[in-house]
Amino acid sequence: MENTHKAAQDADSAMDSTQDCLTATDSRTGKTYQLPITDDTILAIDLRGIKVNEEDFGMLSYDPGLTNTVIGRSSICFIDGEKGILEYRGYRIEEMARHGTYLEIAWLVLNGELPNAAELDLFRAEVRAATVIPANMEKLADVLNADMHPMSMLESMLSALGGEFPDADEVLDAEVRHQQIIRLIALTPVLAALGHRRREGLGPIEVKPELSYTGNFLHMLLSKDGREANLAPALERAMDALLILHAEHEQNCSANAVRAVGSSHVNPYSAVAAGAAALHGPLHGGANQAVLEMLDQIDSLEDVPAFIESCKNGERRLMGFGHRVYKNHDPRAKVIGELAASVFEATEPNPKLEIARELERIALEDPYFTERKLFPNVDFYSGLIYSAMGFKPRSFTVFFAVARMIGWVTHWDEMMSNPKTRIVRPRQIYTGYARRDWVAMNDR
Ligand code: CMC
Repeated sequence: MENTHKAAQDADSAMDSTQDCLTATDSRTGKTYQLPITDDTILAIDLRGIKVNEEDFGMLSYDPGLTNTVIGRSSICFIDGEKGILEYRGYRIEEMARHGTYLEIAWLVLNGELPNAAELDLFRAEVRAATVIPANMEKLADVLNADMHPMSMLESMLSALGGEFPDADEVLDAEVRHQQIIRLIALTPVLAALGHRRREGLGPIEVKPELSYTGNFLHMLLSKDGREANLAPALERAMDALLILHAEHEQNCSANAVRAVGSSHVNPYSAVAAGAAALHGPLHGGANQAVLEMLDQIDSLEDVPAFIESCKNGERRLMGFGHRVYKNHDPRAKVIGELAASVFEATEPNPKLEIARELERIALEDPYFTERKLFPNVDFYSGLIYSAMGFKPRSFTVFFAVARMIGWVTHWDEMMSNPKTRIVRPRQIYTGYARRDWVAMNDR
């Protein structure tokens, strides 16, 4: 029997003789191996010791979509997808959305504890002091095509922002990292508003540091012609809760992009620009826009059953439904359902809401969706809320990005402060040609 203990020690953990092991027999050689188990996982590198002969590279694990691969240890966020549980630093999402404010939750995500009053005041002051946007960013917003998708605009601006702060390259310095984190939390809403105002043809706007983080964001988005945006308090509260609900979600596609890109030690602005690019896609954060576009394709309640059929027969996906991790319900969707009720009371009735409710009702009774454990996710109703606030669908994913920035930078900081972090570099199974000889141009 061979032990892969040596590889385990080299990679991540120490092992003692009482440690649980997975015993695996390789039918190609008849050899049996002991793979140490820690936290219900085996180390992928331990598989490398399983070889047919000495020349063999060793076994790898195959996991397209990384559906069953742990990429590291993290203390930021806990999800139990089977039970529909989401917690940041041990606090339940339902309680945070009900009782917290966005900056308070951002501090919690970043630092691991709820802030006391003095800590929160200091954090607010730090963020406010960092809201001064470099003049070049305004110039950049002016030259970008106003019809460009707002997420493409944000991705470009986040990346360009890194060029304004060359000190950010010192990614192994904790102090420097903290400074960039504050800048990114402070400036992402400003960049989002710059892009929004450019698209809507609105003039420049001053930040209002005396407002809350969310209040200032809404002011930058909505105030026009010298007139202050006058949003019902229920709507500002709903926006704040939406930002909290979207703040963090462990190893999702965009956080994984931030981690993978950040692992090259590039500055954090490039890393979060990659995160924003990942979020942009309709299977991830772009789903909130896609839900509204889907609702626009359904004219009346009578058309809903046929639309559901088209989702079942593979013509399209029911956007805002399904999740890689949640197989019972998405706890964020439940909170959003309650928020939606408060928002729709304060706004004009939206005929799309009835269509969404009918889609949900029919899907939740249909074996296609129930057997595949497809439930409404965070994005099913969030777009309707943004829409009720007067925003266009193309802006929705930008709001998600503003909220998720704290999750991205916290993952980046956690990763960069871990001395064991290595550049992310997966393997592949090569399916191309075997080596062949060069063919001269005239012979092709
Ligand atoms: N509509 C119809 N069928 C679906 C849907 C859907 N929305 N989602 C999954 N399925 C089917 C899929 O066709 C497959 O069926 P079969 O087993 O017959 O091939 C089965 O369910 C499993 O789907 P999958 O694509 O293997 O699941 P995944 O874990 O790879 O994908 C997902 C998760 C969220 C990308 C997917 O459910 C989806 O595309 N949903 C719609 C887009 C959406 O709402 N995304 C937002 C996610 S929440 C916000 C965030 O990103 O955090």
